[in-house]
Amino acid sequence: MKLLVLGGTAFVGRHIVEAARARGHEVTIFHRGKTNKHVFPDLEKIIGERDSDLAPLANRTWDAVIDTSAYLPRVVERSARLLAERVAHYTFVSSVSVYKSFATIGMTENAPRAVIAEPLPDVINADTYGAMKARCERAAANHFPGRLLVVRPGIIVGPYDYTGRFAYWPRRVAEGGAVLAPGEPTHPLQVIDARDLAAWMIARIEVTEAGLYNATGPFEPLTWGTFLEECQRVTKSAADLVWAPDMLLRGEGVTGADLPLWVPATPDSAGFYTVSSAKARAAGLVLRPLGDSLTDVLASSQGTTGMARTREAEVLRRLTGV
Ligand SMILES: NC(=O)c1ccc[n+]([C@@H]2O[C@H](COP(=O)([O-])OP(=O)(O)OC[C@H]3O[C@@H](n4cnc5c(N)ncnc54)[C@H](OP(=O)(O)O)[C@@H]3O)[C@@H](O)[C@H]2O)c1
Repeated sequence: MKLLVLGGTAFVGRHIVEAARARGHEVTIFHRGKTNKHVFPDLEKIIGERDSDLAPLANRTWDAVIDTSAYLPRVVERSARLLAERVAHYTFVSSVSVYKSFATIGMTENAPRAVIAEPLPDVINADTYGAMKARCERAAANHFPGRLLVVRPGIIVGPYDYTGRFAYWPRRVAEGGAVLAPGEPTHPLQVIDARDLAAWMIARIEVTEAGLYNATGPFEPLTWGTFLEECQRVTKSAADLVWAPDMLLRGEGVTGADLPLWVPATPDSAGFYTVSSAKARAAGLVLRPLGDSLTDVLASSQGTTGMARTREAEVLRRLTGV
């Protein structure tokens, strides 16, 4: 197939390009030439700013377009309108954040989406991200009715992840000592490896699938306790996990930026890490073991994030009195 990827050089898009190539597809990448401009030197690259000038895409045809890089509805509107006549199929990489509430456990694709009032903001932040992605989905659907695949991933992990969120945990556990662990070991967690997501998306695009899919992992419920034990196993670490209740962490001013992936348990967030991917699984999504993602992330260069060891030690001292 001839595929156009809007984005494709940072993380998720880069894995999608790799998965498409592995299946023998001919890929064109459209981006501004800012992020990792030297990757994929042998692929056709079209340089442009999708928010203001899509002219470089005019008069071209592709079998399918994969949009990994849109956060603003007007940006999706522009590309979907331009490509509707010349591309058969559109895939939009959305997010589980489109859902209105996470009070429900095991949410399926039918759960209500967040809404946002007009005029739409120009800025994407934690408060607007989900509702704006929901509007992006609608913009794509307007121009590709019946030929739109919307994929809503949860937290995506793997090599090239520039956030460093997932890598914080195996790295921290590998360092050993007392590790500040958030909440309770029974609290849920979900992550999906970008490579599994990408391979599955390409397979769905090959059969011109239309519809909505959550994409989270693993299929069997994962807890923070099991996750950190897996970090210990993979890194052969004897680190001590010191679990700190959400309320105490909040009292210390600890945030999700300090302890990446931590979502304090509240009635409204209880379902965040329990979104159902049963539909994607039935449609062929295959997930690698968590330990493989941890191993590969440790071996690849990633961004760093999370709390400094000195601050972690201070919080531990105050919480445990040791
Ligand atoms: N990470 C997660 O846990 C997670 C979870 C759920 C959903 N998602 C979704 O997954 C997607 C992942 O993003 P990613 O960054 O990994 O994708 P990516 O496709 O690998 O990287 C973003 C690409 O977009 C290009 N780009 C950015 N702004 C552009 C513009 N104005 N015009 C043209 N090209 C532009 C960048 O290149 P240039 O800078 O050179 O233009 C880069 O190639 C997002 O849609 C996000 O909402 C992520």
